[in-house]
Amino acid sequence: MDLSTNIANFSFKNPLMNASGALCTSYDELNALLGGSNSSLVTKSATPLYREGNPMPRYAETPLGTINSMGLANQGFDFYLNFIENNYHQKPLFLSIAGLCLEDNLAMAKKAHESKAEFLLELNLSCPNIMGKPQTGYDFQRTREVLEQVFEIYTDKPLGVKLPPYFDMVHFEQMAEILKQFPLSFVTCINSIGNGLYIDAQTESVVIKPKDGFGGLGGEYVKPTALANVRKFYELLPKSIKIIGCGGILSGKDVFEHLLCGASMVQVGSQLMKEKNQIFSRLEKELEEIMYKKNYSKIEDFKGNLKSL
Ligand code: DHB
Repeated sequence: MDLSTNIANFSFKNPLMNASGALCTSYDELNALLGGSNSSLVTKSATPLYREGNPMPRYAETPLGTINSMGLANQGFDFYLNFIENNYHQKPLFLSIAGLCLEDNLAMAKKAHESKAEFLLELNLSCPNIMGKPQTGYDFQRTREVLEQVFEIYTDKPLGVKLPPYFDMVHFEQMAEILKQFPLSFVTCINSIGNGLYIDAQTESVVIKPKDGFGGLGGEYVKPTALANVRKFYELLPKSIKIIGCGGILSGKDVFEHLLCGASMVQVGSQLMKEKNQIFSRLEKELEEIMYKKNYSKIEDFKGNLKSL
C-alpha cells in the first residue's frame, strides 16, 4: 500500500502528523515525534520569546475530546527553529509561528526565511486563548494585510496558514477569495472550536482555570466541523493550495474521511494527547485496512472524491 503524499516540493511517506500544540512543546516531545511512524511533525506555535502561558490547570480531557487554554506557552522561536535546523534531514518538518502582533510574525518569518534549513512554515492565524486578542482568522481584512506583509519577506520556502473553523458559507467564500490571492502551499483546517465551556456537574465547577473555564475544543466534538472546513476549502481554493485536515481524528476511518473530503495530510491533536505517539502506527494500519477493502492502492485513488446525493 502506498500512503505517500506531497505538499509543495516536500514528499511524505504517509499523511500522518501531530497537530501543533499536541506533544510538541519540549525537546523530548519533539524528539519522540521525530522517531515515530508519523511522516512529519509540526512544532508548538512559537512567539519570539519564551512564554510561561496561562495558569494551570489549562488542559483537560473529557469523554468526547479535550478543552485547553494554554496561552501560547512555548520555548520561544529560536528553540524551535534550532530544533528544525538540527533535524530537517530526518523527516520533512513544519515550523509553527503565532505572533501576538504583526511585527512579531514578521520578525519570526524573516528569521525563518534566512535559515538554511528546508521546512514548511505554518502561520497560525487562529489562537483563541489570548485575552483581549481576537483571532486574526476571524478578521478578513486583517488576514489579507498579514499575508501581504508576510509574503513580502517570505519568498522561498513553502508557507501555509492554520485557520479557525468557519460556520457560514459566506465566510468560507470570503476567506477563500483572500487566500487565493497568495502563493500559499497549504491551509490547515481547523484549529480548535474556540471558547467552549466544559463543566463538571458533580463539583459544579469549570475544569480549567484560565478565562473562567472557557477554552478551545478538540476531539470527537469537532469532526463534522473540521470535515466541512476541509471540504469547502478544497472546493474553493486552487489545487496548488493543499489542505491539511485537523479535527476529530481518532481512527483510520477518520483519516480516510478527511482525505475523502480533500485533505492531503492530517494532523492529530486531542487523541494524540490521550493515546500518545503510538497512535500513529494504529492509524496507519487502520487506514491501510480500509483502503485494502475498498481496493484503493494509493491516496490519489480517493482523495477529494466525496460524493454528493
Ligand atoms: C494555543 C491554542 C491554540 O489553539 C493555538 O492555535 C495556539 C496557541 C494556546 O493556548 O497555547
